[in-house]
Amino acid sequence: GYREVTVLDSVDSTNTWLAQSIADRGGRGEGLAAVVTGFQSRGRGRLDRQWVTPPGAAVTFSVACTPVDRTGRAWEPQLVPWLTLLMAYAVTGAVRDLTGVPAVLKWPNDVLVRERKLCGVLATMVAPAAGTAPTVVVGAGLNVTQRELPVPTATSLALEADAAPTRPALLTAVLARFAETLERASEDPARQLGPGGPLRRDLEARVDTLGREVSLQLPGASAPLLATATGLGTSGQLVVRARDGREHEYSAGEVV
Ligand code: BTN
Repeated sequence: GYREVTVLDSVDSTNTWLAQSIADRGGRGEGLAAVVTGFQSRGRGRLDRQWVTPPGAAVTFSVACTPVDRTGRAWEPQLVPWLTLLMAYAVTGAVRDLTGVPAVLKWPNDVLVRERKLCGVLATMVAPAAGTAPTVVVGAGLNVTQRELPVPTATSLALEADAAPTRPALLTAVLARFAETLERASEDPARQLGPGGPLRRDLEARVDTLGREVSLQLPGASAPLLATATGLGTSGQLVVRARDGREHEYSAGEVV
C-alpha cells in the first residue's frame, strides 16, 4: 500500500514536487508515496516537452517508489527502467476495468486508445542517499474530461468511453493496479521481468507495436529505421528485427 497520498490543488509539476520532497528528506524514499493535483503550471513531458492540461480535466499524479525485492534488496539497476512500462501497464488495466475501453501500451511510455494517446508517463530519478536503494518518481497524465484536445493524435476518456469514470475513481484504480504490479515484479524481479518472464509476457501482450513493422526515429539519425518490433528487452527496451534479420534493442528513439 501507499505510505502517503498528497493532494495539491495546483503545483508546478507533480514529478518535480515529489522528487524535490524526497531529496529534501535526504533522498530516502520508503514504500510508496503519491501526489495528485488538479492542475500543473509546468507539467513536463518526455524529451523536455511541456505537458499542458486544462484544470481538472485529467488524472495528474506521480508515485515515488524504491523498488526492492522480497528480501529488501534493491532491484538490479538494469531492471529499474521497467517502472515506466509498469505504470503504463497499470493505467491500461485500470482503464479496461472501469470502462472496457481497449487501452494498449505504446512503447516506450504511452497509453493509446484506437491509435490515439490517452496517457503519457514520465520517470524522474532521484539522487539516492548514500548506501540506499535508488528512488524513482513515475508520473502520469491521463486525459479524462476533455472534449477537445490540442492535437488530433490525442484523446480522452470522455471521447472514448460510454461513460467516463470520475477522476478519483480512476486514480484509486490506477494506484491500486500499480502497487499490485510492483509487488508482483518484486516477488522475483529477475524472473518476472527476465526473458520469457510472466510479467514481461503480460506486458508484451499489451504492447500494440509488437509483431508490426515500425519506423524508429533515433536521436541523431537523419532517416527513420524500418524494422519489425519483436519484444521487450532486458530493461524494457524495444527489440526489433532489421531487414537483414539481425536483432537490435532500442532504449531511446521514437516509434513513428
Ligand atoms: C509524455 O508523454 O511525454 C509524458 C507525459 C507525462 C505527464 C505527467 S503528468 C504528471 C507528471 N508530472 C509531470 O510534470 N509530468 C508527468
